Amino acid sequence: MLAFAAQNWVCVIDTSIDSLVTVMSIAWLKFPDMGFLATFSLARPTALRSLRKTHHYERHNRMAKVIIENVYKIYTGDKGKLVTAVEDVNLTVESEEFMVFVGPSGCGKSTTLRMIAGLEEISKGSIYIDKRRVNDVPPKDRDIAMVFQNYALYPHMTVYQNMAFGLQLRNFPKAEIDARVRDAAAILGLTPEMLERKPKALSGGQRQRVAVGRAIVRKPKVFLFDEPLSNLDAKMRVQMRTEISKLHTRLNSTMIYVTHDQVEAMTMGDRICVMKDGRIQQVAEPLDIYNTPANLFVASFIGSPPMNLFEGTIENRTNHLVFVEKTKEGLTPLTVRVDERQESKLQSRIGKPVVFGIRPEDLEDKHLVADPNPAFIISAVAEVSEPMGSETHLYLTTGTHTFIARSHGQLRVEPSTRMELVANMKKAHFFDCVDKKDYVKEFGEINVEKWQTACGLIV
Ligand SMILES: Nc1ncnc2c1ncn2[C@@H]1O[C@H](COP(=O)(O)OP(=O)(O)OP(=O)(O)O)[C@@H](O)[C@H]1O
Ligand SMILES: [Mg+2]
Repeated sequence: MLAFAAQNWVCVIDTSIDSLVTVMSIAWLKFPDMGFLATFSLARPTALRSLRKTHHYERHNRMAKVIIENVYKIYTGDKGKLVTAVEDVNLTVESEEFMVFVGPSGCGKSTTLRMIAGLEEISKGSIYIDKRRVNDVPPKDRDIAMVFQNYALYPHMTVYQNMAFGLQLRNFPKAEIDARVRDAAAILGLTPEMLERKPKALSGGQRQRVAVGRAIVRKPKVFLFDEPLSNLDAKMRVQMRTEISKLHTRLNSTMIYVTHDQVEAMTMGDRICVMKDGRIQQVAEPLDIYNTPANLFVASFIGSPPMNLFEGTIENRTNHLVFVEKTKEGLTPLTVRVDERQESKLQSRIGKPVVFGIRPEDLEDKHLVADPNPAFIISAVAEVSEPMGSETHLYLTTGTHTFIARSHGQLRVEPSTRMELVANMKKAHFFDCVDKKDYVKEFGEINVEKWQTACGLIV
């Protein structure tokens, strides 16, 4: 944004991206009341000309598969140092699928999305949209629409004008524009009265709906969302989350949605693509990811509260395999029997370091389990208990590892109480525990998340 002032007048020039077309807005504002003298917007003339030539391209079949093949993004950072933001990504997003990219900050989600949109050059590999290799196709010709976190609405246009603008640039007939805007508004619950308001007279959630509406009216083959709900409060996020899911059911378009919120990923995605350090860690349906995480990183990233993890070894005792916790000196290790059905896969790991994982809901207070098997009981000290009404969250420690249990009972537990918990070992997971020495960062600190990605699932 550029601004300059003369006497009592300020001129603001702003360029932004509307449906991937660069647009320049110019506004004169008068001090002190900030009244508008005049505002208007210009599309880049070259972009406009080529759009006019192609304005009917949107009428064909909406089905579109997106294929990402051996894609890399390498940035040149400070002092010419190369930064690999996306590394050898391979993924097929099926036609009409809702795919969610999830992962911690900096893992390459936005970069991947922006390469699909054409806003970022692809360093190596290929991207195909609907069988067409799009590496060299400009964003406006990819038949996609992107919704950003910061809405990017034009403040001086009404909601109606904001939604109609992209179609006007493409020379759509007035009646068609009107029908599409009103249809989109109805789908998103924007009233005719709201269509006449300026964005500043809308709430955050309503503004985000307008941004989504602007994408819908285009009827793109692929919708790309980059953290579209991050600016909303918790309640509005939940509401918009359901609305976007309903929208997908209704429009049946291919949608790719970026978030770092694992709850959004679990609830919205047909499939989830978990990323870390520019690499895909796992692609699967939400419950498959939850029940069978590919490695320790996925196991601890998906699920809230997260999966409990204990380092230790597998040992053979009186014809049964048991997990024995690795403890600080002088402490009695947590020892629990492995479920029979998991034994065959763990035979080769006897005596080797493993990580035992169990979700909080698979640990229950012994008094609430009928006839518990002593081999599956874990003893630990409760440090804090949180009554949630429907369940109780217990924060416990073995002395070496801390963990959480979600009991179905309404328990009242005093701090420092020793408790016995029954582990549902049928739902337990075991991961290879690779040497942490290979994952040391500066100052001797371990890069835990990177180490976790190397600890693959055994069973
Ligand atoms: N222009 C750039 N030059 C150098 N490095 C960059 C550039 N843009 C992004 N990166 C780096 O690439 C990596 C991936 O960035 P990206 O924006 O894709 O992450 P993200 O997963 O979307 O994270 P967030 O959740 O924070 O939005 C990061 O390490 C980032 O610092
Ligand atoms: Mg991002």
